[in-house]
Amino acid sequence: MKKYLITSALLYVNGLPHLGHLIGCLLPADVYARYLRSKGEETLFIGGTDEHGTPSEVGAAKEHMDVEEYCKKYHDLHAQMYRGFDLSFDYVGRTSSEQNKEIVYRIFNELDKNGYITERTTKQVYSPDDNRYLPDSYVMGTCPYCGYDRAKGDQCENCTKVLDPTDLIKPRSVLSGSENLEIRETKHLFLQLPKMEKELSEWIETRKGIWPDIAYSIAKKWLKEGLQERGITRDLKWGFAVPKEGFENKVFYVWFDAPIGYIGITKQWADEKPATRSFEDWWLNPENVIHTEFMGKDNIPFHTITFPATLRGTGEKWTQVSMLKGMNYLNFAGGKFSKSAHRGIFMDDAIKEFPADYWRYWLIANAPESDDANFSFDQFAATVNKDLNDVLGNFINRVLKMTVNNFGQQVPVLGNITNAEKELYDSLDALTEQYTAYMDKLEFRKAMSTLREIWVSGNNYLARTEPWKVVKTDMDYAGTILNTALNLIRLYANLSAPVMPQTARRMLDLFEVNEQIEFPVGKMVSYLTGLKPGTPFKLSDPLFQKILPERIAQLKETYHEED
Ligand code: MF3
Ligand code: ZN
Repeated sequence: MKKYLITSALLYVNGLPHLGHLIGCLLPADVYARYLRSKGEETLFIGGTDEHGTPSEVGAAKEHMDVEEYCKKYHDLHAQMYRGFDLSFDYVGRTSSEQNKEIVYRIFNELDKNGYITERTTKQVYSPDDNRYLPDSYVMGTCPYCGYDRAKGDQCENCTKVLDPTDLIKPRSVLSGSENLEIRETKHLFLQLPKMEKELSEWIETRKGIWPDIAYSIAKKWLKEGLQERGITRDLKWGFAVPKEGFENKVFYVWFDAPIGYIGITKQWADEKPATRSFEDWWLNPENVIHTEFMGKDNIPFHTITFPATLRGTGEKWTQVSMLKGMNYLNFAGGKFSKSAHRGIFMDDAIKEFPADYWRYWLIANAPESDDANFSFDQFAATVNKDLNDVLGNFINRVLKMTVNNFGQQVPVLGNITNAEKELYDSLDALTEQYTAYMDKLEFRKAMSTLREIWVSGNNYLARTEPWKVVKTDMDYAGTILNTALNLIRLYANLSAPVMPQTARRMLDLFEVNEQIEFPVGKMVSYLTGLKPGTPFKLSDPLFQKILPERIAQLKETYHEED
């Protein structure tokens, strides 16, 4: 049987993740992992932090910390937030781990042996006042094309022209502001992507119609522009030292060791849990592993071109990506979420305001799949109030109360069924099949709108059968209706669990049956007759709370939604 490997992009440690990161990769990956596990599939879900690169060094200096300490601090904070949102990673690891170093060296040595690594001398900006080489984006100056005075050395944000630091007028260091910059010659190692162009291009072609359009088209665009050799080393202190003569003072480029981090982190997991599978079972097993990657759209080129090329060049049979889910951006009040400007809603604040499931549901139901999406507190509150509170929550309350009032706190007997029940079974067969198909295709928005239809069908069933009237004339049929409705709650729990794990658990725990979450497959009639008559149930506080206008106004102010 094939097994499923799921990875979520490894976020940089400088700063904390916000809702854009949550919906960009972490949450959809978690929903998919939970979905597969609840179907009984063997699943490994890997995540972690991306810790190398200049931003970590700079971040540490700002906080007057040692880089290692700094990375550990933020790694732990990220991991804590993942737990807060019930992200069910099997392991949250680090790209700076010893295990990752070992695999990075192994892969690098193979690439070098196979002739995919070449040396070149390049020109790089050096800042004596900062005592370091500056990456292109750490040089700022006036754009020669549009005159914008805060253009960065890799690109002008204003006119989008791609730049070289030497193009800038009056270049200065982003770090110190110093204009005393030198151009120094330095030797670096390059990955020979052009050598693999044909192979990659043939492979990408086989992904057409399988990967979402955005992933396929970004990969195609890179190929069309022609692949360039890519520098994989940098003049920094923090990072994995390059194991090659003449390069001992350099480290690997962050984008070289980050995706290899998925493998390194799997090894961290395997080393900690020796009783389970080895990392080779997952990563050197392409025939038996389906690997699905989740990431924001800016990460797509690295996952469709450079990382696959890195693995292929080794000549070893590494597990390749099968499915790749690239997300567009989530905007806030029409603008970008920004880590550096602390604009938007960060995960640590979000979880203090509302339970994880409110966010999880809203984000997945509004996932920026085909286009960028926008977050606003008005829309958030409207969805929570309507879908969660009015549709799902009220259904559960009504059914439990009606049952208690007429039959006591236990599941009534299922008597003869009528057309109303038969039609309910049929429509649920069709809807769950549709829901499953969307989940399999990672089309989350559509999956959520189908889930909502499934919830609505419960309300429609009650509106049609009117149990509050039937209790006065036909207690047997009233029992059948409420038995069916209670079974619906159990079905909803199992179907909603991937996106709302806590709520699903509370729903299932209403019944004293001690069941595990299990994704329903096949004909729904067997699920809708699954609870034994006489099964006791609990009454609970409402599962959701409405978000009222005063609260919305207050949130908008706190998070500067309208500034
Ligand atoms: N650190 C990158 C980001 O936050 C993502 C790296 S994904 C990995 O955008 F695969 F390279 F780890
Ligand atoms: Zn410009």
